[in-house]
Amino acid sequence: MRFTSALALGSALLQTQPILAHPSSGCGVRRAAYIITNEEENSVVSIPIASNGLLGEGSKIATGGAGGIGISGATGQPAAVDGLASQSSVTVAGSTLFAVNPGSNTVTQFSINKSDPTKLTRVGHPVKVPGEFPNTVAASTKYRIVCVGTSGVINGVSCAPFTPAGGIGTFDALRPFDLKQTTPPVGPTNTVSQVFFSNDERTLFSIVKGDPPQNTTGFLAAFPVEAAWGPGAKASVSAKGTRSSPEGTAVLFGSFVIPGSSDIFVTDASFGAAVLSVGTDLKATTKGRGAIDGQAATCWSTYSPATKTAFVTDVAVDRLVEVSVTDASILNVIDLSANGQSGMIDLRALDEWIYVLAPGNNVTEPAVVVVDATTRKQVQVKGLGSLGVTGRGQGLAVLGA
Ligand SMILES: *[C@@H]1O[C@H](CO)[C@@H](O)[C@H](O)[C@H]1NC(C)=O
Ligand SMILES: *[C@@H]1O[C@H](CO)[C@@H](O)[C@H](O)[C@H]1NC(C)=O
Ligand SMILES: *[C@@H]1O[C@H](CO)[C@@H](O)[C@H](O)[C@H]1NC(C)=O
Repeated sequence: MRFTSALALGSALLQTQPILAHPSSGCGVRRAAYIITNEEENSVVSIPIASNGLLGEGSKIATGGAGGIGISGATGQPAAVDGLASQSSVTVAGSTLFAVNPGSNTVTQFSINKSDPTKLTRVGHPVKVPGEFPNTVAASTKYRIVCVGTSGVINGVSCAPFTPAGGIGTFDALRPFDLKQTTPPVGPTNTVSQVFFSNDERTLFSIVKGDPPQNTTGFLAAFPVEAAWGPGAKASVSAKGTRSSPEGTAVLFGSFVIPGSSDIFVTDASFGAAVLSVGTDLKATTKGRGAIDGQAATCWSTYSPATKTAFVTDVAVDRLVEVSVTDASILNVIDLSANGQSGMIDLRALDEWIYVLAPGNNVTEPAVVVVDATTRKQVQVKGLGSLGVTGRGQGLAVLGA
């Protein structure tokens, strides 16, 4: 396994990308993409998505918390890109958006304006989580629960009730993962990759990366959601979970629950991707495994409803790989190296489009790359340098109406 950490990156020279289209923003926009800047003063960047799928001009709003970056295990220096080593550092649940603040151990809730989803309003103050270095967040609209994964000295997952207008309540006791870590963590291995809910929102999953040189194996932790009984009662997530380490996996990373199924699609930074079956005991077993040729660190995944397949990214190879959600076999490789990026990180699909955060390098500014999943062609590269986004930028969530 190879993690390219000496990715020569900086914020140095920001080159303007050719803009292929100028979709109008503002009135009537019902879709948007969101990332976090993850700078010291953390912000959410909102970018309108026009009806033709193209991105318009973005805007930025402070979370009131601080970003943070992990230490690269390979160099011992702050990670040049992918400082959170996670998927879903920003998440959308209904008309609510949550963003983590890794440097101040808080999470911020925003409400999304229904007529213009690029307009965010902060709901209350950032709320403390009982862990260090929060790097991933999931929310259940059905049960009104928000859960955060933390990867520092105090690591695990903790959840809190929320209401769209009232904000986040108090986080519950940490479900510890007992990773031997520092704050900020040394990664990308041995950290929490992601938290996410099952399709029926009755299970909270968390993916944790192993560290092969230390002989630790990654695992899936599953916690049942306990429904509220009686008036005024709030749903909660069980304190007790079930862990499993599916055969042939090691550094489990970005995941999603396959629509219409209880199977989980997951990347594994050490070889590519896998499809896992989850039993009634909430333990995962390997159903299919796909090794990606020439991969460095395959870490993020999304499901395209247009192609009914998965697309995965690699922080050190500038391409999208299309993978079967049935058996994790490799279907297509979409080479994007002509756009000058060094690799790509978090991504989300909406209709036939895929929106991917590319963190930039010394020559090319950070951008959201838009790819048509059906034609497998890049349709836009929307530079983010003018919004002050650097290689620290993380996460990618979309809202589609
Ligand atoms: C990119 O920037 C980094 C940090 O400033 C530097 O160490 C590296 O040599 C640069 N790489 C290239 C290819 O210019
Ligand atoms: C949402 O945005 C619209 C259009 O800009 C504006 O007229 C309206 O006041 C906003 N609603 C809220 C609740 O902020
Ligand atoms: C990991 O396991 C290998 C093979 O059993 C062993 O040689 C090595 O010392 C172990 N490494 C650590 C850090 O425990």
